[in-house]
Amino acid sequence: MKLSNVLSMALASITGAKSIGKPNEVDALAAESLHRMNAYYSENPLPSPRTCTLDNVAVRRDWSALSKQERRSYIKAVKCLAKLPAKTPAAIASGAKSRYDDLVVTHILQAFTIHGTANFLTWHRYYTWAFEQMLRNECGYKGYQPYYNWGHWADDPEASPFFDGSDTSMSGDGAYVANRSSVCFPSAEMCYIQLQPGSGGGCVTSGPFKDWTINLGPLAAVSLPPPTPNPQPNGLGYNPRCLSRDISLQSSAETSDSVVAALIKDNTTITSFQTVLGGEFAQGKMGPHVGGHNTIGGDAGSDFINSPADPAFFAHHAMVDRVYWTWQNLDLEGRKEAIAGGTSGVGEPGEAGTLEDVTTLGEWVGVGNVTIREAMSTVGGPFCYVYA
Ligand code: CU
Ligand code: CU
Repeated sequence: MKLSNVLSMALASITGAKSIGKPNEVDALAAESLHRMNAYYSENPLPSPRTCTLDNVAVRRDWSALSKQERRSYIKAVKCLAKLPAKTPAAIASGAKSRYDDLVVTHILQAFTIHGTANFLTWHRYYTWAFEQMLRNECGYKGYQPYYNWGHWADDPEASPFFDGSDTSMSGDGAYVANRSSVCFPSAEMCYIQLQPGSGGGCVTSGPFKDWTINLGPLAAVSLPPPTPNPQPNGLGYNPRCLSRDISLQSSAETSDSVVAALIKDNTTITSFQTVLGGEFAQGKMGPHVGGHNTIGGDAGSDFINSPADPAFFAHHAMVDRVYWTWQNLDLEGRKEAIAGGTSGVGEPGEAGTLEDVTTLGEWVGVGNVTIREAMSTVGGPFCYVYA
């Protein structure tokens, strides 16, 4: 698609505010960032001019802006991945039953080196792209990865076409489970935030994913009631169970338009941008990334190691990526290769991450490795997309 069309689509989405809801500052910042990106690349060479130009760039769109037919084809392709056989050997993960599970396995295996680290944003960018490639190459999907536009629905996620439980949604809340107490977040040992029970807690009961099966984990679930433990301590054994959710307004408040707009505008270094996005738990702030996960809740939404087991994960992480992309493009010269942080997400941060560090999705997802440098631009490396 030509960039001029992308620009007009992005502008229409903020000024027309058709099916997407009220005008939103984060959308305006995304549109501004697209203008600046266009201006930048009219004067500077594109990173991969032979494979990605502003004339063939893909456009990732808001779920709310997709037609019902487009939503159905996405849903169909996600379900297709869950039917295709796994490539991960049973000796590695006996619980991996599908191509979808191949993705979950690599997230589980790498969980402690991709969260709270220098590669967090680029790793998850690559991961979401790999999912999009699998949908397109293995399941015949013709569109691109949509995003769940947090701020439009922070007051009521279940009002969104993404979580409304209709047959063109990603299914809605779990069944209500009464008499639950709050849980400590991020953990019982570090009880910085009291996370109150949401409006669900049980299995998803309507929409396309009511019969979805989670096969792996749990590993780090903080939710109540606790999910059935995995037969293996590494969480890779076979543990089939329902998709549970627990929609939380306490958490979605951390993804409101004003919070996310402030994140983009007020943080001029990658260090502070990452810190605020990722949450400052000791100050009682979940931040938009974790707030978005806990908006969904359930044994998948609140379990940071096994979270991709919920298929809503990818539209949430596409929104994380859109916010990162917006932030980068507002000052491309200064931010296109900005990196900070360590290589370990637990205990000591380890060595500092560098642009030459390799991003891998392991052996069985089926995409090669890229460097962090290559994953820094959505129009460089293997990527060729922008956000409307
Ligand atoms: Cu992750
Ligand atoms: Cu995440």
